[in-house]
Amino acid sequence: MTASSGFPDEFLWGAATSAYQIEGSPLADGAGASNWHRFAHTPGRIEGGDTGDVACDHYRRHAGDVELMASLGLGAYRFSLSWSRILPEGRGRVNVNGLDFYARLIDQLLERGIQPLVTLFHWDLPAALDDLGGWLDPRIPDWFADYAEVAFRAFGDRVPMWATLNEPWVVMDAGYVHGVHPPAHRSVAEAATVARHLLRAHGAAVQRYRAHGRRQIGLVVNLEPKEPASQAPADLAATARADAYMNRQFLDPVLLGRSPELLAEVFGPAWSPPGADDLELIRQPIDFLGVNYYTRNVVRDDPAAGPARARSVRQDASVHTATGWEVHPASFTAVLCGLKERYGDLPLIVTENGAAFDDPPVATTERVDDPQRVRYYRDHLLAALEAIRRGVNLRGYFAWTLLDNFEWAAGYSKRFGLVHVDFASQRRTLKSSAHYYREVIRSNGAILADPLPAASR
Ligand code: BGC
Repeated sequence: MTASSGFPDEFLWGAATSAYQIEGSPLADGAGASNWHRFAHTPGRIEGGDTGDVACDHYRRHAGDVELMASLGLGAYRFSLSWSRILPEGRGRVNVNGLDFYARLIDQLLERGIQPLVTLFHWDLPAALDDLGGWLDPRIPDWFADYAEVAFRAFGDRVPMWATLNEPWVVMDAGYVHGVHPPAHRSVAEAATVARHLLRAHGAAVQRYRAHGRRQIGLVVNLEPKEPASQAPADLAATARADAYMNRQFLDPVLLGRSPELLAEVFGPAWSPPGADDLELIRQPIDFLGVNYYTRNVVRDDPAAGPARARSVRQDASVHTATGWEVHPASFTAVLCGLKERYGDLPLIVTENGAAFDDPPVATTERVDDPQRVRYYRDHLLAALEAIRRGVNLRGYFAWTLLDNFEWAAGYSKRFGLVHVDFASQRRTLKSSAHYYREVIRSNGAILADPLPAASR
């Protein structure tokens, strides 16, 4: 539509989800268990004892959900494949029923003119592979590439955009350092090994894609600008370590073919830099980088605070979301511009951006007013637009998330959706943010210049 909004005419407007967070029916039709299924069924792991057994029941309601996406005017939809639906043991035997589910979903999307962006791994690992060592096993890059190839062969003709891994840093940090995601280990030494295997798995899958795929493949990372709480040398050093640990650990090897030297300080004796053969595999050219942005992070030196020894300092003057994350749209512009500066003109896609807020209960009304989320989207989309104005090659934006869903260790206690889900009845109700986003899409961003609806001001 309008080019005057500043968003390119062909800009992709989408929403994102992931398999374990929405599908439910985790063991249906021959699927194998995933590590998240097992973790969620381990007492004490998930807030409220929640599991993904039903989630949004999307496995059975996907046709209706695609209609919902069409009603929002989405041009694209990012979702992930459950590895253990397709390969119940993680390798070897293919479960045709699992492939069929995704084939139906992809066809329904394409019929509605919605482009699929498929993430191969959004944290749910086949439990059978977990039993063999999961991300610690040096064979996992090959297992992942073999699984990726099954997906490329099945859907490569219909899926124009692929992502290998979602947020490898979280897989490593939450799963192997802090033990709050599976496999719930707490070992910095293991984390260093896992990071290398994640990177190798990404590279191996991209290599396979070049042999079989026809369109685009990229990696999805979560980025948070790190800012020092003071100009004290110790805080500046902590900031640099935190940045290397979270933001550059995965991007530098993939895009520059080297690892940040500061990782030696972060990981200590556990660290051995990737060798030339690792880097050759890891540094496969990618077609786009997927960026997940939620917040920034102001840090202070603290020897007791994780491998980067950087403690997060709460900014009391700022608005915070229900997950306690500071709302800071200017940092979104900074992240996007910083990527261009450091890594050049690689096409970028915002693969996640959004916020959890405590929405009003919906029981008695047809509307769910979520003014804070409307405002969050407006301010962050304007921040993205500012990056475009400064020359960033931003091709698309995916809101996180379409539906309220299973928010990992927080269970169903945090709602990020554009669409409210009543988990007892599975009724979907559009929130004000969904109505607003529909207008953003319809006007190709022009509506962002208008004053917000009264409730959101
Ligand atoms: C993940 C999503 C998650 C969201 C909000 C991202 O780290 O990719 O799966 O729900 O953040 O926490």
